[in-house]
Amino acid sequence: MNINENQAFIITGSAGEPTLSGSVAIEGAKNAVLPIMAASLIVDGETQLTNVPNIADVHSMISLLEGIGAYGSYRDGVCSIRTQDAKNTILDQTLAKRLRASVLLIGATLARLGSVTFPHPGGCVLGSRPIDLFIEGFQTLGCSFTGDEESSTLTAPPEGLSGGTIFFRVMSVTATETFMMAAVRAQAPVTLKNCAMEPEVVATADFLKKCGARIEGAGTPTIIIHPAHVEPPQEPFAVIPDRIEAGSFLILGALLGKDVTITNVRPSDLDAVIEALRVMGVPIHATEDTITVSRPDTLRATDIRTHEHPGFPTDLQAPMTTLLTQAEGESAVVETIFDGRLNYIDDLVTMGADIRIWNPHKATVKGPTPLKARDIDGPDIRAGLAFLLAGAVASGTSRIGNAHLIDRGYQQIEQKFQSLGATIERT
Ligand code: EPU
Repeated sequence: MNINENQAFIITGSAGEPTLSGSVAIEGAKNAVLPIMAASLIVDGETQLTNVPNIADVHSMISLLEGIGAYGSYRDGVCSIRTQDAKNTILDQTLAKRLRASVLLIGATLARLGSVTFPHPGGCVLGSRPIDLFIEGFQTLGCSFTGDEESSTLTAPPEGLSGGTIFFRVMSVTATETFMMAAVRAQAPVTLKNCAMEPEVVATADFLKKCGARIEGAGTPTIIIHPAHVEPPQEPFAVIPDRIEAGSFLILGALLGKDVTITNVRPSDLDAVIEALRVMGVPIHATEDTITVSRPDTLRATDIRTHEHPGFPTDLQAPMTTLLTQAEGESAVVETIFDGRLNYIDDLVTMGADIRIWNPHKATVKGPTPLKARDIDGPDIRAGLAFLLAGAVASGTSRIGNAHLIDRGYQQIEQKFQSLGATIERT
């Protein structure tokens, strides 16, 4: 996949008229496939994954795996990874710096090859993104650490990672996944406490169990991993649906839909989002694997507070804030996970939104306010999506730049918007 950093979306809004209808199929989850791809390094041989989204981050993860000496290919939703020849313990500096999810490879490489050298992934637009949990956790499992400002190296004891108990002082999705996969190859049981409980953690555990791993408690705060012999799964492993892509389209449907249906979805992964939309007065109907929403005559204000799963996901905070600009009354938005994730709001304000930022974690939105088209660049995947939503409800034609960032997490987003009736193209 070629990444072109100059592309933008041109979107003409409906000036608030609910004009979208139809159905959209949700892809496999970005944040499940990335840890599962990393986990494939734990086993020696070929792993096949299905329902894999064709997004830039998947291709970056293939390149990172190839840098280690594995082989990866992607075609029509199927990703194959062969790990027999993996022997390089140094992660590609440029790629690893660009993709925070490269931290997922630390555990698998260390457990499989005995050491790993990686660049500090650095901060990003979401705020400071430390890796202290990773370093300290591997020290607990007997590893030594050396590092400078450029890169870090972790080395496992010659006999392999030791067992032990790790308490995460912050709940972290990728740290939970990283230690869970590494611990599969440890010499003794590893207990992880205060774990993230996201569906993607459970999906990663399910993949590892298909490889023979003995893991208890994934999806709860305490996970215990027992040593086990692992080999590639016998059958292709299907990636779970992307709850964040699903939530993004639910919010689009609540904003402008006349019966917008999303398919290939697991409604139970979206309880917090469905509940927030219900409180806002959005008609919403779920079956086992579809959800249908429409724009109500009046959207009601509500307060949202991002939280680890099963709370309201931080990845849908920006799209939800765009929806709240069209709701009657005052809503509070509290972002508890990242310290830089309200920065996109200044641009929404230039479109006409009435939002006050009180501090890096809290904003209040007064609505409804008509939005005007603007030329703006999305700072990250989810804020970029929030700007597309704003462009779709605004009057006039907006240019939303940094399409390549939206492409990191959403497959062919403009085609999906078009299929619902939105006027959007990529330049
Ligand atoms: N944290 C530490 N020390 C660490 C690691 C994390 O203090 O060593 C802190 C972070 O700074 C943050 C908190 O822990 O305040 C939680 O962050 P977490 O580690 O859970 O985030 P992540 O694992 O790096 C994943 C998703 C993100 C999503 C967050 C929160 C993947 C590949 N990424 O990131 O997804 O926002 O969990 O749910 O799974 C996205 O898809 O757009 C995205 C950013």
